[in-house]
Amino acid sequence: MVVTNQLQEDTTVHWHGLIIPGPADGGPHQLIRPGSTWRPRLKVKQPAATLMYHSHVHGSTAEQVYAGLAGVLLVADDAERALGLPSEYGLDDLPLVLQDRIFDQGRLVYPNNHMAMMLGVRGDTILVNGTVQPVARVPGRLVRLRLVNASNARIYDLSFTDERSFHWIASDGGLLERPVELRSLRLAPGERAELLVDFSDGRAVTLETEPDGNHPMMGMMGMMQGAADSSRRHTVLRFVPASRGNAAQRPVPDRLVAIEHVDAASAVRRRRLVLTMGMGMRGRGRGSMGGGMMGGGMMGGGMMGGGMMGGEMGGRMGDMMAHGIDGRAFDMNRVDQRVRLGDVETWEVSGEMMAHPIHVHGVQFEVLSRGGRRPDVRDQGLRDTVLVQEPVELLVRFTQPTLDHPFMYHCHILEHEDNGMMGQFAVV
Ligand code: C2O
Ligand code: CU
Ligand code: CU
Repeated sequence: MVVTNQLQEDTTVHWHGLIIPGPADGGPHQLIRPGSTWRPRLKVKQPAATLMYHSHVHGSTAEQVYAGLAGVLLVADDAERALGLPSEYGLDDLPLVLQDRIFDQGRLVYPNNHMAMMLGVRGDTILVNGTVQPVARVPGRLVRLRLVNASNARIYDLSFTDERSFHWIASDGGLLERPVELRSLRLAPGERAELLVDFSDGRAVTLETEPDGNHPMMGMMGMMQGAADSSRRHTVLRFVPASRGNAAQRPVPDRLVAIEHVDAASAVRRRRLVLTMGMGMRGRGRGSMGGGMMGGGMMGGGMMGGGMMGGEMGGRMGDMMAHGIDGRAFDMNRVDQRVRLGDVETWEVSGEMMAHPIHVHGVQFEVLSRGGRRPDVRDQGLRDTVLVQEPVELLVRFTQPTLDHPFMYHCHILEHEDNGMMGQFAVV
């Protein structure tokens, strides 16, 4: 890859989902200075998948991605080709990048207030591939949608207006073992999913999303300017089929690919990570904060009862917030975890106060359990990003060396990441 930075500021390009060694990863350490060019060699050796790339400068990731520095990377392979899935790019195989934005009189606005920083920025205008009110003209047959959630914070809960079902065929890391029939699909920031949708009835239909309810303190959202999602459903994308077709011409395959599962018994070590959103109370034991707040103590009563969240209170809360992992904010100069190359480990990740999409660089993992139980249907497949709040066990195999360029693990709500909900690990 040849990446030239023509901005007036530093940037990086991270290949989210590519399983490559540290120096090519494009994380916060691999700065590309204004006017300079970065030439990483990417050896692509992984199953067919829908990946993404985006800026990853520590402290500016959210703003740079919001301003447009994100794109899609498609990996193909023989196993995928042999299935005969729809694969005419832009015709029956559509990459769809979902992003939400705020516009003020036609100008893109990034709301730089404390509350938006704390909860993540959500916009009231949904863009698909950078287009407002998009329409996709599709053939009247089976069409493959490659959904990429490149939004800063919004979790989509997608379904069609006529409640038609569709088949989910691929997770972040590639094709599933078999298609899963669904009527709705949740997609957190950083996640990707491939779907097969049948348009052979020739009828126009709209893909919509539910309001994003992912914030702590739901009841008070009305007061929190710039952070709340409205209660209405949003239109994401309208599909207009060209004509009626014949679904039988290309059926959904029964089986997709064989996934090489890692044996959970081969895990040599367990690590626990908590994505923390403590506010104030520095110096007191962490943990106590999240629990105390949710317990309805100070938030429901004294602190916010006055309904004066906008100005002063928002500022004060912002000053007190401390995003981190295990109560520690990200530090470029601290390597938080050291892993042996080739090892399999179990990472148990949970999140405070709201759901957080945990993303790990340089690996693919499988979800072993969620909240102490069997994983959800949507947890299956090879992944690099998954939504956690209740503890989720990830089975991770570390195949890539970091070679003095550590990998990141972080919340993919980009404002959380920029504000410290990130750690780094070495694989040696
Ligand atoms: Cu998609 Cu570390 O990021
Ligand atoms: Cu990544
Ligand atoms: Cu988060």
